[in-house]
Amino acid sequence: MHLTSKKTIDDLQLKGKKVLIRVDFNVPIKDGKITSVKRIVSSLPTINKVLEEGGKAIVFSHLGRVKEEADKTKKSLKPVVYELANQLGRNIIYVDQTRGAKLEHAIEKMQDGEILVFENTRFEDLNNKAESKNDPELGKYWASLGDVFINDAFGTAHRAHASNVGIASNIAESAMGYLLEKEVKALSKIVHNPIKPFVAIIGGAKISDKIGVVSSLLEKADKVIIGGGMAYTFNKALGFNIGNSLVEEDKIELAKEYLEKYKDKIILPVDHASATSFEDQERILNPSHPLQIPENTMGLDIDQYSIELFKSELEGAKTVLWNGPMGVTEFSNFKYGTEAVAKEISKLEDAYSVIGGGDSVAAVENLGFEDAFSHISTGGGASIEFLEGKELPGIKAIQDK
Ligand code: 3PG
Repeated sequence: MHLTSKKTIDDLQLKGKKVLIRVDFNVPIKDGKITSVKRIVSSLPTINKVLEEGGKAIVFSHLGRVKEEADKTKKSLKPVVYELANQLGRNIIYVDQTRGAKLEHAIEKMQDGEILVFENTRFEDLNNKAESKNDPELGKYWASLGDVFINDAFGTAHRAHASNVGIASNIAESAMGYLLEKEVKALSKIVHNPIKPFVAIIGGAKISDKIGVVSSLLEKADKVIIGGGMAYTFNKALGFNIGNSLVEEDKIELAKEYLEKYKDKIILPVDHASATSFEDQERILNPSHPLQIPENTMGLDIDQYSIELFKSELEGAKTVLWNGPMGVTEFSNFKYGTEAVAKEISKLEDAYSVIGGGDSVAAVENLGFEDAFSHISTGGGASIEFLEGKELPGIKAIQDK
């Protein structure tokens, strides 16, 4: 995909137009409270541009997955609408429907420069998965509500759903919003011409979730540091005792192949902190060299020697990509490794540093280190697929200039 070939918001006439804006407001919500507003804040430049130009901004998003009627209460966009109104400092017309007379009427009444948000697009999944399966009738219907379409939902760009691909295929004009454009530019630098030395740090629970990106990074990067749950499968492939740690038995052969082919590139943790169980979260430190995790414990984080090793591998890096936590960050005793990695990357002054993935981004946000990174992606799965070099359907569907 050539970024330059796609229309952007700046190619559109917005004044007086009904502008459909697909955003990704799939934000983490705990006990009814939004725990990260990053995706909301990141959508403001596009929304403000439409409002300032005198367009009618019709904004929509999915939130979580909606499988049964009972999910609707928890997955309503209402709390997100309040937060967006706060951030914008203006009133929003909120319609608690995804289609029908109430929505159509509210849109007809909109004045130039007003904003309306309608309900979670995945409420339509209760109707034969119409949104997630990109039901042609639904995409056509939503497209009929507007004059032009802006896709600013980078986090959803790896999905071919009615609210992105469906609308783009049924409307006169479509374009990328500022957030989508910024993400594509930032991640393209890593995919197409990373400045060397290029060090990637990949974490997270399972290799199977990240096989594509790990193999593509092993080709491109100078070093690939592997942490998190997936490191134990590699440690086991090397013959170390990993106790009861998470392991993907069916990926041990693959780990062996990678270790053989890229032995000078792969950097693994050399020590771990473990616990006797997921429930008992006392941090037990394990001696390094040789790496041993006692039989009755499971590794849940990396520890000091690993941090020192990773730090020395990061020294002098000109491009750094980080995706995925180093340990179980939900447990306060096991977020040490992830926070330490965030700190080390934030100290690299000359590096182009990009971070993606919910837990690693949350660690950076909690530490207040956002400014130390060149780019913080709003995409989890989408950033992984983009980095693998895949063409994302949500972007592909946007009109060329
Ligand atoms: C995400 O958070 O990764 C996106 O919003 C996509 O959500 P999904 O995995 O439920 O499609």
